[in-house]
Parts: sequence; structure tokens; C-alpha cells
Amino acid sequence: MDFIVKSGHPEKQRSACVIVGISKTRRLSAAAELLDEASGGYISNILRRGDLEGEIGQTLILHSVEGTLCDRILLVGCGKERDLDERQYRKIITAAVKALQNSGATEAVSYLSELNIKGRDSYWKIRQTIETARVVNYRFTEYKTSNSKPKRPLKKIVVTVPSRRDLAEGEKAVSDGIAIANGMELTRNLGNHPANVCTPSYLEQEALTLAKRHRNLSVEVLNESKMEKLGMGSLLSVTRGTKEDAKLIVFKYNGAKKEKPHVLVGKGVTFDTGGISIKPAAAMDEMKYDMCGAASVFGTVSAVADMKLPINLIGIVPAVENMPSSTATKPGDIVTSMSGQTIEVLNTDAEGRLILCDALTYAERFEPASIIDIATLTGACLVALGHHMSAVISNNSSLTNELMYASKTSDDKIWELPMSPEYDEQINSPFADMQNIGGRTAGTITAGCFLARFTKKMRWAHLDIAGTAWVSGANKSATGRPVPLLTQYLIDRCAQN
Ligand code: BES
Ligand code: MN
Ligand code: ZN
Repeated sequence: MDFIVKSGHPEKQRSACVIVGISKTRRLSAAAELLDEASGGYISNILRRGDLEGEIGQTLILHSVEGTLCDRILLVGCGKERDLDERQYRKIITAAVKALQNSGATEAVSYLSELNIKGRDSYWKIRQTIETARVVNYRFTEYKTSNSKPKRPLKKIVVTVPSRRDLAEGEKAVSDGIAIANGMELTRNLGNHPANVCTPSYLEQEALTLAKRHRNLSVEVLNESKMEKLGMGSLLSVTRGTKEDAKLIVFKYNGAKKEKPHVLVGKGVTFDTGGISIKPAAAMDEMKYDMCGAASVFGTVSAVADMKLPINLIGIVPAVENMPSSTATKPGDIVTSMSGQTIEVLNTDAEGRLILCDALTYAERFEPASIIDIATLTGACLVALGHHMSAVISNNSSLTNELMYASKTSDDKIWELPMSPEYDEQINSPFADMQNIGGRTAGTITAGCFLARFTKKMRWAHLDIAGTAWVSGANKSATGRPVPLLTQYLIDRCAQN
């Protein structure tokens, strides 16, 4: 789908469709007003008959309206003007794109960015339009043999700005929006591929492909013998039951001269059976999504490189498959991590922290300005926060605040969970320096405490995306979260310099 920016009056648009907002109760937006005048009151007449109240998400298509140059006018309900917020704006865009998909129009000119959302400028509204439209339009059909493509797909959306003076800002919003949408789509695709395709080696190949596309992006991939030499006994203990080779993928994006890099570390378990502590069969297929943290690192690196952000960024992806076999790690086995700390593996299904801890220790060499790990780490996170928010746990309150701020801007929600010595004590082991599980209670927090033992020297935050990385059910799919959050966090770091 293409996006371009224009300014100009709605009644003068020669287009398959012009999109305008109607608020409650039947209040015309400025663009709708102009169309109404040009058509001699046609729109307000229809509204008076009661065809559209302006409830959020309501849509109505009018054809060949006299006095206008477009084939169709799409009226979209915007709810109460006063209540219009970020979430509702996205609902409005979603409704508009869905209506277009069913309309026969392959392109449209949208005036929805004129809607007033408190504290949000037209850059924000346009970028959000693009990200949302691309999310709604996304299909993953690679494994379908019948042609399930729509006959008349939506090809182009023209977003409008008030005047020619605003074109430059609009174009920046479009290009940033496309970069983020492309990043999210990469993340979603990697997640949605089945685990017999998306293996650690597949991620390695995808990393090489991504790096080739950008001049200032390189990638290095460490194989198992390199990891052995580095002493990554914890990471390697997870891969012992599988034939697939483990990989440690390291992206290096160089967009600034000497500054310390920000580091992202993403859990890349391409399939999590649980290992010897094997999972129950129900919904086990969804454990192909256990590499969504890794995929979000790919997506964010891609977006940052596309936007050419003036920062330095390292992306680290420990990629493994967690399988049971006669060579697999057993409950009670003790392993030595790269940090030198020993770990009693009481449950081989708590494998995410075992690969992350070595990746985090490895990251110390980059002297990060900040380090954020992203992981589908605990089922407990779903119990705590459901599917709406990712959990954040951090050893640095200014970093948490920065993430909270980026979360508000990107509307990619997070909620902080606490850390304290009481929780940390839950992972003490009678035999080793620590154990990899902390008992039945506070599972997300004790997992965070485990990682915190490896990040003492760094400004670190952990994002548990177990509830937000994918949706289940008939529309099962990776969501692309938290790419919007992470890219916004990195965009904000540029403004700071
Ligand atoms: N990948 C899972 C966590 C998960 C489960 C995410 C379901 C999303 C949906 C992780 O590796 C895991 O198995 N965690 C265990 C930890 C426990 C053994 C301490 C869990 O949450 O049950
Ligand atoms: Mn597991
Ligand atoms: Zn897992």
C-alpha cells in the first residue's frame, strides 16, 4: 500500500473515495462541512434521516455525490469530539480501512488527520494512520495454495495536511510511519512462520538479508563453538536436546559517531516444547511465537535503519530450539553461565532466562547507554496484565520513565512491575548460585529478578511480551508489538542529543 501527502479541498479531490469524520451527534467535521456545502446539503440531509449517528467505528458510503469530484464519500463515525483520544483515533482509522476494503475503491483521500486529539500534532496523526492502516491490511498467506487475495485490494491512501506549509512535516510522518509499519510487518512475518521453517538458521539468513539492505547495518553470527569458547553454558544448555544449531545473532547499526549504543536483546526460542519439563499439548503450536522478542529486535533494527536515526544500536538475538531428547538438559542439572554464576535448572521450560542471561552478559562489551531485553518470558504475565499491556521491570527508574513516555506516544502499552530483595530471594538455590524458577507466585517478577542478576552494571529494562506479542483464536497472528514502543523510545533518544 502506498501513502502520499497532499493539501487541498475535499470537494476538489478526483479520487475513488474521500474519507471524512462525523462526530456525535451528527456533527460534521470541517472537511465534511465543505463537502456538504458543495453538495447543497446532501450529507446533512442524510444524517438527519438517521443513517449515521457518529458512533465510533460507524461507516457509511455515499456514491456520486453532486458537486464533488470523487466517486465515493466515506463517512466515519468519530464518537464524542471531547472524548477523542489515541485509542479511539486508531478505531476510527481501522473502521475506515475495513470499509474501504469492502468498497471496491482501491485508493482514497483521507481527511481524518484533521480530527482534534489532545496533545497530538499532525505528524503523530499521520504516522498513526499509516501504522494502523498497514496493521489492518496485513495478511499472512504464504502457505495458502489457493489465491485468497482480495480482487480489488486497497493500493493507495492519500493523507491530507491543512496547508502546503505542512507538507514537509506530513512527508516525514509518512516515511517514519512506513518504516515502522515495515518493521512491524517483518516482526509479524517472522512470528507467523511455522517453527519447521523459522529455525535459528532461518533467523540467521534473515539477519544477513536485512543487513545487506542497509549500508550502515552489519551483522555477525556466532555459532555454538564460538559460544562455547565464550563460556555460554547457560544458553547452550537449552539447545542440547535439538538437532538445530543455536545462533547468536548480533546486529550493529551505526548512525552516530562516537556515542554509546543502545542495545536490544530479544528472546529467540524458535519453538518451546518445554524440554524435559514438557508442556501440555493444548495450544502448544503457539510456542512457535516464542521468538517474538527476537522478531521485535529485527523489526526495530529495520525501522531504525530505514529512518536513518542518528544513534548507534546493537541488536542481539540468542536463537535456539527447546526440545526434549536423550541429550537434553534435565531438571536439577547445574550449568555455568558466561558471567561465572551457576544456575540450577529446576525446570527446563524456564528456558528464556537461560538464553537471555548469557546474551545480556555478552552485551556488556558494548558499554550500552541502555539495554532492553524483550521476551515472551512467562505465562504469569498473561495472568497479571492480560493481552493489553507488556510488563516492564527495570533497575533504573529514569529508563522506566523513558519507556513509559514512549509507550504513551506510540500507544503501545506497558505497565511496571516491582522488583525487590524479597522476590529475588525466591530464586536462591541450595546447590548453585541461583535456580531458574522462583515458585508459583510472582512468576513474571522472579524471572525479572533472575535477569537482574546479570545486568547489575547496566541501565537495564526487561519487557515481558508474553501477552502482547500475538493473538490467539480465529485471527491468530503475531501483532508486531512492541516495535512501535521500541522505535519510539529510540526516536526520543535522538531528540535528546
Ligand atoms: N515461553 C514460555 C512463556 C509463555 C507461555 C509465553 C505461554 C506465552 C504463553 C516460557 O518459556 C515458559 O515456559 N515459562 C514458564 C516458566 C515457569 C516454568 C517458571 C511458564 O510461564 O510457565
Ligand atoms: Mn518455556
Ligand atoms: Zn519459552
